[in-house]
Amino acid sequence: MTDIVIIGGCGHVGLPLGLAFAKAGKKVVALDIDAKKVAETNAGKMPFIDAGADELLLEVRKSKNFEATTDAKCIQQADVVVTVIGTPLDEHLNPRLEVYGDMLRKDRSFLRNGQLLIMRSTVYPGTTDHVAHALKAAGIEVDVAFCPERVAQGVALEEIHSLPQIVSGTTPRAVERAKALFKLLTPDLIELPTVGAELTKLYNNAWRYIQFAAANQFYMIANDYGLDFYEIHRAMTEKYPRGKGFPKAGFAAGPCLFKDTMQLSTFNDNAFFLGHSAMLVNEGLPNYLVRRAAQKYDLRSLTVGILGMTFKSDCDDPRDSLSYKLKKSLAFEAKEVLCADPYLERPWILPAEEVVARSALLFIGTPHSAYKKLDFKGKPVIDVWKSVPGGMTVV
Ligand SMILES: NC(=O)c1ccc[n+]([C@@H]2O[C@H](COP(=O)([O-])OP(=O)(O)OC[C@H]3O[C@@H](n4cnc5c(N)ncnc54)[C@H](O)[C@@H]3O)[C@@H](O)[C@H]2O)c1
Repeated sequence: MTDIVIIGGCGHVGLPLGLAFAKAGKKVVALDIDAKKVAETNAGKMPFIDAGADELLLEVRKSKNFEATTDAKCIQQADVVVTVIGTPLDEHLNPRLEVYGDMLRKDRSFLRNGQLLIMRSTVYPGTTDHVAHALKAAGIEVDVAFCPERVAQGVALEEIHSLPQIVSGTTPRAVERAKALFKLLTPDLIELPTVGAELTKLYNNAWRYIQFAAANQFYMIANDYGLDFYEIHRAMTEKYPRGKGFPKAGFAAGPCLFKDTMQLSTFNDNAFFLGHSAMLVNEGLPNYLVRRAAQKYDLRSLTVGILGMTFKSDCDDPRDSLSYKLKKSLAFEAKEVLCADPYLERPWILPAEEVVARSALLFIGTPHSAYKKLDFKGKPVIDVWKSVPGGMTVV
């Protein structure tokens, strides 16, 4: 018998969650369509970096509390089914509202009456009620809950226990069952109506995205006046309680913040002006830096290096990384572009030392900690984060 099946169970959210429940004593099966990740996971190898997960995966494989599969029949055996598939935008920046329906249409023949279905992906507001209604109309009597994941990528296992868990459901019984389950991970539960819970998650991500945009816009204003944003940033934040937490400038990227800001915009009839402005600022930063660099250097005659291609520091995930946008822009402007990243293996990724040696100008694309100790051989390094000694913050 299986306690919990996680659909999307080998992903960045699904796998740490499954490991946490397995550690808490539940029998967990991670269902995923990616056969490679399933094989790696069953072999005890994490498909991505998450602090503490390597050891825990081996532990729960040994205790036989955790396994991965591509076979959707496992759904029949579970008391609880958790869904954490990706919820991407389409090419016009609209949420792909069909992803949950498609998944459930494919898998719903395996759902059985009496199960608890917990949706954990970040979804377009109203999706939970929509799913509950569709399942009921298909004659499937399951309790439907929405309990959004709010961990930061790379530290999911730690944050699963330290963050309060938001719980919502389409019936009181769904809420009670979801609460009983998440109490295994944290005593801190916050109950909301389903759309309130869906909005909470989108608000958290859009707020973070807007804060990054404010920092990036302030950076560009200061830079246009030849001023160092970080001197101003220090003055704004040091011993000034109301400036506390104001972010540094940098690429605001990754698979969640942009996407969720756009989901909120669609929900508000595309009239989320703050969100759209944040998108324009954040997405504009790579081109801004290239344009400023082109005013200072003859890029057409230079080999330029990018250090860091993943979407954030010390992370192995390149999804929606703005380093790729920087690379595209530089490929158009410069003689040649070379890229490094200690966390990625690609035919075109070179060791950082080689990129430094062959480039006349460098950009920090991702502020990985390893670059703090890198010898830049006295070459100019454009560093919007102020992350490496001697980096240029004014371009
Ligand atoms: N990455 C994060 O740190 C994070 C944090 C909070 C919330 N979220 C949200 O969680 C959701 C999942 O994000 P993620 O980063 O884990 O994505 P991911 O791509 O890492 O994981 C999704 C997994 O689902 C699998 N999958 C897709 N369709 C499937 C199907 N029909 N059946 C079975 N498996 C299927 C994929 O193969 C993949 O392994 C998204 O809604 C995201 O916005 C992500």
